[in-house]
Amino acid sequence: MIYEDLKGKKVLVTGSSSGIGAATAVMFSRQGCFVGVHYFRTKAGAEKTLEQVKKCSDGVLLCADMREPGQVRQIVESFAKQAGGIDVLVNNAGSLIERQPFETATLEYHEDVYATNVRSVFLATQAALPYLRKSRGNIVNIGSVAGHNGGGEGSGLYAAAKAAVATETIAMAKEFARYGVRVNSVFPGFIETRFHQRFSSDQRRRKVAAETPLGRNGTAEDVAKAVLFLASEAADFITGEYIAVNGGLYMRA
Ligand SMILES: NC(=O)c1ccc[n+]([C@@H]2O[C@H](COP(=O)([O-])OP(=O)(O)OC[C@H]3O[C@@H](n4cnc5c(N)ncnc54)[C@H](OP(=O)(O)O)[C@@H]3O)[C@@H](O)[C@H]2O)c1
Repeated sequence: MIYEDLKGKKVLVTGSSSGIGAATAVMFSRQGCFVGVHYFRTKAGAEKTLEQVKKCSDGVLLCADMREPGQVRQIVESFAKQAGGIDVLVNNAGSLIERQPFETATLEYHEDVYATNVRSVFLATQAALPYLRKSRGNIVNIGSVAGHNGGGEGSGLYAAAKAAVATETIAMAKEFARYGVRVNSVFPGFIETRFHQRFSSDQRRRKVAAETPLGRNGTAEDVAKAVLFLASEAADFITGEYIAVNGGLYMRA
């Protein structure tokens, strides 16, 4: 699918060293976008993403711990300078970090899950907003089905953090509409990336696939396609909305 209007847009994708972010960055490059490929710990992954991006368009590598205000500001400014502005911000960086049930979870884990998944979105959005106001651009936040259903074993705090991202999406959409800046989100279901290689057993992956109405787990590209739609002019009158990409695993009227 080609969205003609995306050609030449400047798109910053956080967490594009792996999985959903990497697939999203590459898909934007196929539209002719200039892409900010961001990483924290996985430099080799980000270099691979940029290599793929450069086959279709161009982009830059950016390194930051998205929990750290100074580092986030620095990469957003650096991207805007090198790209000549920002049209689209994809707040994708996030992680379950590990499985910790409420009963035994540490305060350190609580703080880290919220910093990684919620503070990161706040910091990047605030830093990018002046540029998005100028371009009348848009934001796509990556939430999770967990924000709706409470998540699986030991992922309740992560689920709650993703629910915060869902509510922030609506609140930001209201606040930024006056600037012509749209804010939407994508809620992935069970997507086969490093995330589940780390946090789920093969048995669980097979079980979820079998329970999913469309009969399989998702791919990073499945999610990227929804991000591109929301970022494009095809979604011009859509804001404060989400698209669930989960093969029918969790349906809501
Ligand atoms: N896979 C799923 O089933 C699923 C379902 C629902 C929601 N999600 C969400 O989708 C997003 C992408 O996940 P994924 O499945 O693609 O996982 P992934 O392959 O593990 O990628 C996670 C990305 O987030 C980055 N990241 C994590 N902590 C960071 C930090 N403190 N600072 C900067 N970057 C950080 C990682 O960067 P480095 O590796 O370079 O450090 C990596 O690029 C996440 O927000 C995740 O919560 C995933």
